[in-house]
Amino acid sequence: MTRITLRRPDDMHLHLRDGAMLQAVLPESARHFARAIVMPNLVPPVVTGAEAAAYRDRITAAVPEGFAFEPLMTLYLTEATDPADVAAAAASGLVKAVKLYPAGATTNSQSGVRDFDKVRGVLERMAAIGLPLCVHGEVTDPSVDIFDREAIFIDRVLEPIRRATPGLRVVMEHITTKEGVDYVRSQGDDMAGTITTHHLIINRNHILAGGIRPHYYCLPVAKREHHRLALRAAATRGGGRFFLGTDSAPHPDHLKEHACGCAGCFTATNTMAILAHVFEEEAALDRLEAFTSLDGAAFYGFAPNQGTITLEKRDTPARWPEKIDTGAGPVTVFDPGFPVHWEVVD
Ligand code: NCD
Ligand code: ZN
Repeated sequence: MTRITLRRPDDMHLHLRDGAMLQAVLPESARHFARAIVMPNLVPPVVTGAEAAAYRDRITAAVPEGFAFEPLMTLYLTEATDPADVAAAAASGLVKAVKLYPAGATTNSQSGVRDFDKVRGVLERMAAIGLPLCVHGEVTDPSVDIFDREAIFIDRVLEPIRRATPGLRVVMEHITTKEGVDYVRSQGDDMAGTITTHHLIINRNHILAGGIRPHYYCLPVAKREHHRLALRAAATRGGGRFFLGTDSAPHPDHLKEHACGCAGCFTATNTMAILAHVFEEEAALDRLEAFTSLDGAAFYGFAPNQGTITLEKRDTPARWPEKIDTGAGPVTVFDPGFPVHWEVVD
């Protein structure tokens, strides 16, 4: 197969930022994606329905002429979040999920949750109205090795939350481990997992062997090779509960190439081409549409997008800019480290 047409894809986990960065990165997603679940970890975070409405308007205003792109908004869960505000934002159709960041787990997560008992009321309300919880699944206990933080989160935090809140729909986001894959697989229809593009490509050697490569550093950090292979199997043969959330997370180069570099890979530009390459390698091109365009929408209860996108395999490798210029400084585009012959042509 050298040409493939899919329903227009959805990115079920995306960082668009704000201001000059938003202006520059939004077209990179809107070019291929019809919709995205937009992360609320701005500074300050998007906590209330009113803040989400204002952020949605800033995103919509930044969509370039000729592009159709719908931001699907999320609220940043804090210990002070008001269940009634969440329910009203969901009922109006504005908000599609609430995001749980354990405090300190990742970029701009300081306002996240320390004491999970304090958010019980919100979670119960969400279970009652069917509003999904998107979870950054890493423990923050400094004594836990960074490569173990996802697996330990499942037992210490995720399972207890789910047991305490029956019916809560949960997305374990950007899973990076076989344990994450196995957990999602072992659960019912109210549990799903998103998988990023870059975690299908890199393992921890890519970050650390032969020199430290800051543009491959993201959270959760890429793990050993057998985890990457488990993610590939889940993405290509996952049975409907694993879908694309790129976690495309732009940071300007001077903050990535730094003594204490920021976490995040920027993949919006070349995600679809890279995914076609991966799915072809796995002899699963016929599953690409489910992963990018159908299964996520089904989990969230959205109709699939009407439009299509077409990818073609070319003799010469696809080219994309090495960096995106933004008013906040250049942002390096994820380099898969091998030639990609697939290109979005329509
Ligand atoms: C994200 C960011 O930069 O906002 N970084 C990342 O490494 N993925 C935050 C996140 O999703 O963890
Ligand atoms: Zn993210």
